[in-house]
Amino acid sequence: MLEILVVLLVVVHFLVPISYYTFVKSFWLRRPWGLNIDENYLPYITIIVPTYNEEENISNKLENIYLQDYPKDRVEIIVVDSASRDRTVEKVREWMKARPDIRVTLIEEPVRRGFIAALNYALQFVPKHTEVVIFTDADSFWERDTLRRVLKYFADERVGAVTIGVRYMNEKRPAVGNTYRHYFNIIRLGESKYFGTPVLNGVLGAFRFKLLKKIGELPQFTANSNDSTLGSIIAFMGYRSIQVDETEAVEPMREDEIRRKIRRAQHLILSFLKTKSYVKERGVYVKTPFDKVWRMEWYLTVLNPWLLIAAMLLAMAGVLFNSSLVLFILLACGFMLLAVKTFRMWIIHQLILVIAAVKNLWTKELVWKK
Ligand code: GDD
Ligand code: MN
Repeated sequence: MLEILVVLLVVVHFLVPISYYTFVKSFWLRRPWGLNIDENYLPYITIIVPTYNEEENISNKLENIYLQDYPKDRVEIIVVDSASRDRTVEKVREWMKARPDIRVTLIEEPVRRGFIAALNYALQFVPKHTEVVIFTDADSFWERDTLRRVLKYFADERVGAVTIGVRYMNEKRPAVGNTYRHYFNIIRLGESKYFGTPVLNGVLGAFRFKLLKKIGELPQFTANSNDSTLGSIIAFMGYRSIQVDETEAVEPMREDEIRRKIRRAQHLILSFLKTKSYVKERGVYVKTPFDKVWRMEWYLTVLNPWLLIAAMLLAMAGVLFNSSLVLFILLACGFMLLAVKTFRMWIIHQLILVIAAVKNLWTKELVWKK
């Protein structure tokens, strides 16, 4: 009896994501975008860079934006710093002096209230003629033509949000992080072609300013309303919220990578728990095919990891208390499979989601250690 239950949990846990992945890859991914993409569309944009203790990155970040092959008279940069304790602000000032031919506004918050508070503050400084607002983490870097490749999608009024994939630079152990990204990139891309994806990346989140104004303040209920929550809100409003694949960003792999993944998982879970009702309360919800994507991603993020945990605990109990041979073999197989990279990556991802869900019970990590 216990054996059947465990096997059932394991089968569902693995079969749902594998089927979804296979389905997305074979059907949605192959679709055309169904959008009027215009290579010559060069809208006025405002790029918002939030910083907290980014002295190592900020000059490179600004330089990276400066070197984009995009008309500078259509770019506005806003750096919003929340009382960094290092030389971030000085670095920004120095850089502004060295590069007077691009508009940069530096906003300094006297105290650190958190990431979303800073973005909301910065949004008040976005010039009226801006068509697209881009949020980008200070420690992420784009390719030279990234802006063009992203902005051309906004030529179509149905597009509300655009993001790009991420690759790690200076990886200590190549490929592991990137296999992880590869699996998710396929899914994000397929979902995007179908209608929209609920998960955007902080390396670049581009949003139609008109829609941001309609939303008003970014909600504080998840600390990542700059990316995933905002992307989901926009998709629920009936606009396409997409990840495109012609360009990528790179970001450094940090020492505290696991802790960072837990924090981001916490925010993602909160986003899944709260965004839909938020959009409905605001009265901006429209029924679209995005609901299907949402339901599946909701299940995969919020529920599915617990099936694995339940199966593991039950199996261990079965071995300890019933000396079940079947369960022992099953557990042993599971452990041996850990030698396979993809499997290991998946299990770690599930554990991170479970730890994040538990951690959410006492802290939302709205302001994080840096
Ligand atoms: N102004 C301001 N105030 N900026 C902040 C604050 C703050 O309190 N905290 C962090 N930042 C800045 C960082 O300097 C960086 O540019 C960006 O926000 C992202 O923070 P990181 O510390 O680099 O975290 P991450 O790489 O894990 O960020 C990702 O996760 C977040 C959700 O957990 C990003 O993808 C974010 O966009 C995402 O919201
Ligand atoms: Mn970062």
